[in-house]
Amino acid sequence: MKLLVTGGAGFIGSNFILYWLKKHPNDKIVNLDKLTYAGNLENLKSVEKNPNYEFIHGDICNPQLVNQITSNIDVIVHFAAESHVDRSILDAAPFIKTNIEGTYVLLEAALKNKVSRFHHVSTDEVFGALPLNSKVKFTEKTAYNPRSPYAASKAASDHLVRAYQITYNLPSTISNCSNNFGPFHFPEKFIPLAITNLIEGKKVPVYGDGLYVRDWLYVEDHCRAIDLILQKGNIGETYFIGGLTDDINNIEVIKKILRLLNKEESNIEYVKDRPGHDRRYSIDWNKINKELGWKPEHDFDEYLKMTIDWFIKNQDWWKRIKTGKYLDYYKKQYA
Ligand code: NAD
Ligand code: TYD
Repeated sequence: MKLLVTGGAGFIGSNFILYWLKKHPNDKIVNLDKLTYAGNLENLKSVEKNPNYEFIHGDICNPQLVNQITSNIDVIVHFAAESHVDRSILDAAPFIKTNIEGTYVLLEAALKNKVSRFHHVSTDEVFGALPLNSKVKFTEKTAYNPRSPYAASKAASDHLVRAYQITYNLPSTISNCSNNFGPFHFPEKFIPLAITNLIEGKKVPVYGDGLYVRDWLYVEDHCRAIDLILQKGNIGETYFIGGLTDDINNIEVIKKILRLLNKEESNIEYVKDRPGHDRRYSIDWNKINKELGWKPEHDFDEYLKMTIDWFIKNQDWWKRIKTGKYLDYYKKQYA
């Protein structure tokens, strides 16, 4: 089988490529990535000489290129996106372009070249915010209610994928997952930002009261779920993928990281809240569990420790990022 992975140089895409080549060594992967600030080919160093892996530097918004690449592809797994809420608040334009127009370009190419599957990777953020102190979870029946430019652009892309499946019979599937964590996580996101700041002797910026709840999913569990959806998932279906945390808020996450790094709680710095900050996300992953037999297997505490160890061992990887172009964004965001 030949897969086109878009955004394969990003956090989840690169974990997926490493996972896939190990699990399915006879498959071929083409990785199409624009190498934005978030794309990093260092993540894929261990496979760059693998004859079954090919990297193409390009933009998913380029119809000629995408059409040409897709001509001999069986399956598209679409990760490429602008993915950070805070950046979408500073400037929504690249989110509209890549997440909506880019998905449209890929869908057209998928249809024209008759791919056997288009899998779209999306987020739980398209469903808005759940109240604190409640047991309500997002399910596949929850209505869309995006509240940030990022979430709105991802919601639009989900709608396009579904429309192409219904209108043109494009064989597609969608997954909406919760917040991932693990190796190669870009240090603008909460967990890697906290770990790397603390290693550097800096404080951790916590937005608002810090009582915001996310559902944390270890990235390898996510990759395994996509694998199952590609093999056993039903065309036209959406599957939710969530983790093993039970309503843990940002302060509790930080306290765990502080303990694991032997740091004082005085390293928490409360900063101005994110506008439109979604209070709580929680995923009900019963459908994928019942229909495909998937469940998250990586315990949060154990894999948070593994992730911290990874960041301690791979300081060159994130220090290059934190001293590069990313520094300008950091200064602007936390001014
Ligand atoms: P990321 O920001 O780490 O990586 C995105 C990748 O896409 C980068 O390599 C970037 O260079 C590439 N890219 C961006 N614009 C492109 C374009 N126009 N053409 C080609 N490549 C382009 O993102 P991530 O965290 O790995 O997320 C991957 C996908 O998973 C996204 O679709 C995101 O919405 C979704 N998702 C992520 C999370 C999470 O916790 N990180 C949670 C739910 C859903
Ligand atoms: P983030 O990693 O940006 O993911 P998302 O907003 O997509 O869920 O943020 C996770 C949580 O951490 C969210 O509630 C916002 C919060 N947060 C902070 O408190 N401080 C920070 O510096 C960042 C980046 C996030």
